[in-house]
Amino acid sequence: MNNQINSEEVIYQVYPKSFLDTNQDGIGDLKGVIQKLDYIQELGVTTIWLNPIFSSPHVDNGYDVSDYYTIDPQYGNMELVEILIEEAHKRGLKILFDLVLNHTSSKHKWFQEALKGPDNPYRNYYIWKEEEEKGKLPNNWKSFFGGSVWEKESETGDYYFHLFDKEMPDLNWQNESVRKEMIKIAKFWLGKGIDGYRLDAFIHMEKEPGYPDARYADPDQLISAEDFFANLPQVDDYLREFSASIREVYPDAYLLGEAASADPERAVKYTFPKGEACDSIVSFKYFPMDTTKKDDRFPLENQEGKLNVIAFKQVMDEWQRKVGEVSEMTLYLNNHDMQRVVSRLGDPAEFREESAKTLATTMYLQRGVPVLLNGEEIGMKNLELKRWENTRIERIHEVYATLLDRGVTKEEAQTYLGSISINASRGAMQWSDQNYAGFSTIEPWSGVNQEAAYNVAAQETDTASILTFYKQLIQLKKTALFTHGSYEMLISKSPIMAYRRQFEKEQAIVVSNLSGEPQESLLDLTNFKDQDSTLSVGNYTYNNGKIVLSPYASLVIKSDYKGS
Ligand code: GLC
Ligand code: CA
Repeated sequence: MNNQINSEEVIYQVYPKSFLDTNQDGIGDLKGVIQKLDYIQELGVTTIWLNPIFSSPHVDNGYDVSDYYTIDPQYGNMELVEILIEEAHKRGLKILFDLVLNHTSSKHKWFQEALKGPDNPYRNYYIWKEEEEKGKLPNNWKSFFGGSVWEKESETGDYYFHLFDKEMPDLNWQNESVRKEMIKIAKFWLGKGIDGYRLDAFIHMEKEPGYPDARYADPDQLISAEDFFANLPQVDDYLREFSASIREVYPDAYLLGEAASADPERAVKYTFPKGEACDSIVSFKYFPMDTTKKDDRFPLENQEGKLNVIAFKQVMDEWQRKVGEVSEMTLYLNNHDMQRVVSRLGDPAEFREESAKTLATTMYLQRGVPVLLNGEEIGMKNLELKRWENTRIERIHEVYATLLDRGVTKEEAQTYLGSISINASRGAMQWSDQNYAGFSTIEPWSGVNQEAAYNVAAQETDTASILTFYKQLIQLKKTALFTHGSYEMLISKSPIMAYRRQFEKEQAIVVSNLSGEPQESLLDLTNFKDQDSTLSVGNYTYNNGKIVLSPYASLVIKSDYKGS
């Protein structure tokens, strides 16, 4: 397909609950985001994606919305949102809100009405099933948050469906009224001036008719039956209807879809042709892990292992060819549902600076739209888990005690628990080396890491810091070569990854060592040897035209392009 893809956006994810607390209740707020707009602008990003800020009981940090038209008082109010939008726009920043389409909070008035019984007009906003046999669940599907997807409602004895927490009932998208309500909500905030949405978990809007049991499960076992509730064909219809309806009025609305289990073919479906569905989607399939590399002092089943660089290169190459050529693919390293990038894919102990910078270089200079998570730009690592509430770790006390019995130190145990907790990447933003990292004057809701070198104040004035590097990298990313250029993965010996970008008369090679040992690549860079690197991390030398990179080193070499 000869489609020129211009990806000029650089998106910065702000997790508002953990960004900056201005009224000292331990919870980040909208005033905090407003106060830091200059900081965000200076990073060079173009767009902010704000995690949910609508009214919510916070069973799932705002992904359980009880009123889509009001702002949660813990974050602020309508006036502050208006200021935020205006102040962001003054600085040339766009704003995306997070819209939860698949479910509401059980406290939402639609669900409260639905609970009144089968005759209530809102009953059909949700998904219900009568109990067929006493005590028997309607099927064997497992919820993402554990337990069955079915919850028995006490009045009628019917079951309602929830893919996530039982306080987050799924909406029935087959019901036209639901679809219209969601379009109305989307238009309301676009009318307030926001620039688009991140569409939460939209791939689950349709479930397999009849809710059949997953047959590949053992009897009596619950199973995560993705095939029956993710990426069904109707999802695409709902998405296109939603997109068309809002773009009729707001043609430039940007839609960033969360499509966790989408493969490249699905990703194309969800993003092509431009303007008819999402602009871009985030799939969680970018990072194949080498599961043989685990630390056997800790429970193995929860560990992901290390990045499998050979497979990662294949995945990136495939996405670049299949998706990058037809629509804007996203480039990301972490988000609020994952571990922090340095902890998961880099080496926070020995090569924190190098691995943070090189992973960013490798990922973001590819073709596509970078999506950064706040704190990544200062090399924040996973939260050291000191608070045990709301971590979704089963029997956490027992796990901790067992680890200490095995001779693991307290610090190591906290690091491990942090890595498997849902809050791994949701620790408070580290602004300074003051108390609570300058996030608040009281203990943050999530806990916080306090590290002398890893905070904004320390890095802002340091020309060698991760923060300074990110700013340079983002500027480079925004040049035509990296926003418009073609992409070609080069053959190199893993754990080296190398690719070439080219646009008009310019080209660049990006080459990285994604390991903690020095590596010689197979690449013959004789022709580039005399060029200076535009941006580099660590050290490199040439050995007969072949480049040798120090641990987690990377470089970007630009040169003229003389080909046709
Ligand atoms: C998405 C969000 C996640 C949330 C879930 C339910 O996956 O990113 O944080 O728990 O949807 O809304
Ligand atoms: Ca606050």
